[in-house]
Amino acid sequence: MKKIKTQVGIIGAGPAGLTLAHWLKRNGISSVILELRSRKYIEGRVRAGLLEQNTVDILNDMGLGSRMKKEGIEHDGVFLSFDSERVHIPFAELTGGRRITIYGQQEVVKDLTDAWLDQGEELLFEAEATKIKDFNTDHPEIHFTHEGEDGVLECDFIAACDGFHGIGRKTMPKESYRSYDITYPFSWLGILANVAPSSDELIYAYHENGFALHSLRSEVVSRLYVQVDNDESVDNWSDDRVWSELSTRLGTPGFELKEGPIFEKGITPMRSHMIDNLKSGRLFLAGDAAHIVPPTGGKGMNLAIADVKHLVDGLVGFYKNNDTKDLDNYTQMALRRIWRAQDFSNYMTQLFHKQDEHGTFTYKLQKAKFDYLKMSTASRATIAENYVGLPFETYEF
Ligand code: APR
Ligand code: PHB
Repeated sequence: MKKIKTQVGIIGAGPAGLTLAHWLKRNGISSVILELRSRKYIEGRVRAGLLEQNTVDILNDMGLGSRMKKEGIEHDGVFLSFDSERVHIPFAELTGGRRITIYGQQEVVKDLTDAWLDQGEELLFEAEATKIKDFNTDHPEIHFTHEGEDGVLECDFIAACDGFHGIGRKTMPKESYRSYDITYPFSWLGILANVAPSSDELIYAYHENGFALHSLRSEVVSRLYVQVDNDESVDNWSDDRVWSELSTRLGTPGFELKEGPIFEKGITPMRSHMIDNLKSGRLFLAGDAAHIVPPTGGKGMNLAIADVKHLVDGLVGFYKNNDTKDLDNYTQMALRRIWRAQDFSNYMTQLFHKQDEHGTFTYKLQKAKFDYLKMSTASRATIAENYVGLPFETYEF
């Protein structure tokens, strides 16, 4: 049996696990990451690509932002469209200069993985964590399999950054938390296409055919989404149909959607999931292991990295100052931000998706919310500050 010893055992090499490992190392705390998938798989997995100001600041502060600085695209605002009418939300102006950066999640994962391995640190790919043991003692263990061999990672703390399907949440005693779920009655069909973006800022649109989003990855790659039914299959969506729906739903006077070869097409279901306890003994959950937000607003990766900030505060307090206050408060501090993001993601989802027949009461409420954005700076500022992400200090009350 393979035996490894470290201070913090991390399950999962997504944005949460990788950021945690780097941040701990900067504070002189050792960790080892176990990742179920191959390096090629995690670096190729297409996900969202919207980084809040806090996320960008964290990556830069860790010295890991150099490619992001070069290749990421900063946005000072966003377009919101409803029935072919548009409102512009100027983030920077409404939030004292805060903005978002478009940079694919898999690029973040690539940068963090490269840096971790270049520094000679340990990350086992295709290593499946199979059991979390003794997390109520001060010598917990993660049992895993790697290259056909059983192994055990002995540590002081376990960070389960292993996503929605991981073993972290399943290991938490059932009576230690309550869970909350919403399953939305629609999904997103997303494409990547080799074509220059048709807009220099993102566009979220409500249309009587359903939601559409125009995003991008670079000056030559566009990322776009349309709302589809949950039981929809990509086979029903020819490239022509995708472009035609996008063009209709995003359409406003004077706007022309550029089309190009589609090289990726996939359907993502939408759900909100929460549990109200992220810690049991010395086992901590972070990122998608603990919560899922619908993608409207692009909060997933940002929340994962924000959880890590609170976990690092706790672990640094423990190792450096012999103080467990921040570890004890981990759930409370992380949940404040997570619920805020749940609310914002839900708000954006409800505002822009077709939920009922066009013209019904629900539609009228959506339209009233949109019209309010035209009428009120306060309303636009609410979207702006949530979209770019509230500073960490805001949550200290
Ligand atoms: N053993 C080892 N690794 C595991 C196990 C296991 N038993 N189970 C899951 N994993 C790995 C997965 O293979 C995955 O690479 O944990 C990792 C979790 O990473 P992510 O899913 O990227 O989750 P997280 O780091 O929390 O980042 C959240 O991902 O889903 C998006 O929108 C979401 O942007 C958000 C981000
Ligand atoms: C993306 O670029 O993939 C993206 C952007 C904004 C969102 C969701 C996804 O709200």
